Amino acid sequence: MRLVAIRSVLAALLAVPLLLTPASGRAAATTTPVDPYFPDDGQRGLDVVHYDIAVRHDPRVGRLAGRATLAVTARTTLRTVHLDLWLPVHRVRVDGREVSWRQEAGDLAIRPPRAWQCGSSHRVEVAYAGRPGRVGPSSERPFVTDGVESVVAGEPHAAAWWFPADDRPTDRARVDLRITVPARGRLTSISGGRLLAQTRAGDWRTRHWRFVDPVAPYLVLLAVGPYRERVTRALGRPMRIAVSGTLPAARRRSALDLLGRTPEAVRWLQQVLRTPYPFADLGGVVTGLDLGFALETQTRPIHPAVVPDPLPTLVHELAHQWFGDAVPVRRWRDIWLNEGLATYLETRWGAARGGASMTRWLRARYEEHSSAGDPFWELRLDDPGPDALFAWPVYLRGAMAVQALRTRIGAEPFQRLLRVWAHRTRPASTPAFEETAERISGQDLATFFDAWLRADHAPSPTAEFGLGPSAEQRRDGLREQ
Ligand code: TRP
Ligand code: ZN
Repeated sequence: MRLVAIRSVLAALLAVPLLLTPASGRAAATTTPVDPYFPDDGQRGLDVVHYDIAVRHDPRVGRLAGRATLAVTARTTLRTVHLDLWLPVHRVRVDGREVSWRQEAGDLAIRPPRAWQCGSSHRVEVAYAGRPGRVGPSSERPFVTDGVESVVAGEPHAAAWWFPADDRPTDRARVDLRITVPARGRLTSISGGRLLAQTRAGDWRTRHWRFVDPVAPYLVLLAVGPYRERVTRALGRPMRIAVSGTLPAARRRSALDLLGRTPEAVRWLQQVLRTPYPFADLGGVVTGLDLGFALETQTRPIHPAVVPDPLPTLVHELAHQWFGDAVPVRRWRDIWLNEGLATYLETRWGAARGGASMTRWLRARYEEHSSAGDPFWELRLDDPGPDALFAWPVYLRGAMAVQALRTRIGAEPFQRLLRVWAHRTRPASTPAFEETAERISGQDLATFFDAWLRADHAPSPTAEFGLGPSAEQRRDGLREQ
């Protein structure tokens, strides 16, 4: 996060470069935000290749101290480098030398002695410490603790509460993480990736976690607590599941049972998507904190502790490993691609296990929202605005649009579309999704996507919009799929 830079309108009109002192924030050349929804996030032209992070945290005390070394490459000429971090910084080094820097709210602006040339690589070391529970805007609290265990997790932001990051979904990097916690009791740390080593020094215990696959900053989990873990292998990969020991025994057992179904869900997703699980490690975590959410933290999603039917959410977070984690959104306005596809897959899992058919499901959800002026249809799915990123229509209408697309273009082209989309190597965007669907189906889908994503009212209940019987169904005499 970063404060929005104040731009001089006059200077812009005169088309002269802004001469900003470090105090006034970002230089003119870097004010074009990476993402208009969160203009303070990330740094255009910066590419973090690797984060080497060491943090120390005691939930009893609430402080977090860290040192992070970032291996970065400039993709353009950079005079000032901005990282996102809310915790107070006390030292910055670039390529081994102390440099001048300035921290304003969640923006750490670093001034290397000489501008970085495009293509050059550098090491940025940041030392920092503070109370993650006391920093950042009051509307966003990705750090949660009860004095026994702590979690940092959130979307679209979480990293800036515990390490300096180029905080945007598209700058994915490898991560090495050393988390040090008090050695008392069963206190330990959980993150994503693989546990490489565990060491003890005096009253402190350190675990070294490594993400071998690149990960976006917000998808790196930090959980500290008295975790009970189970380590197995599944689908040719190490799998580590963790459940907080603060949960009562019965809840702990059901949480372990739930997490134990990860391979089954992943296997099913691999089949439906015809695409292997995208990462080297498998797992999941159930915390003892009442977080009230699940999150697709890479390779080790956070699953809800005990809700009446937690399985759909397990599938949902695992579906995000493809759609969201391996294939990030280019801009946050495209979030429906993550949530719509994950919700579609979660629903389809239910349908495959004896729930209502997807056709019936779509019809029922459509009918629930058929009264005139239902606000469900007001939101622009491809541009919900930063405050409605996770509004319910983004999930449900997104999933309905996906199912409607399947009815409209047919099961076989739809199958190919899912596969191509899951294999995508570039970030996801709505225009790219529409183009891919049109290319694969050979159909003009402009009216279809306008109606589902951009109109402010419900699509007509006709085959054109994937409602009513599909061409295939009409041919096959209304057999349901
Ligand atoms: N992406 C998460 C999911 O659908 C939900 C989510 C949205 C979330 N915003 C969040 C979770 C903030 C934690 C914090 O599974
Ligand atoms: Zn989701």
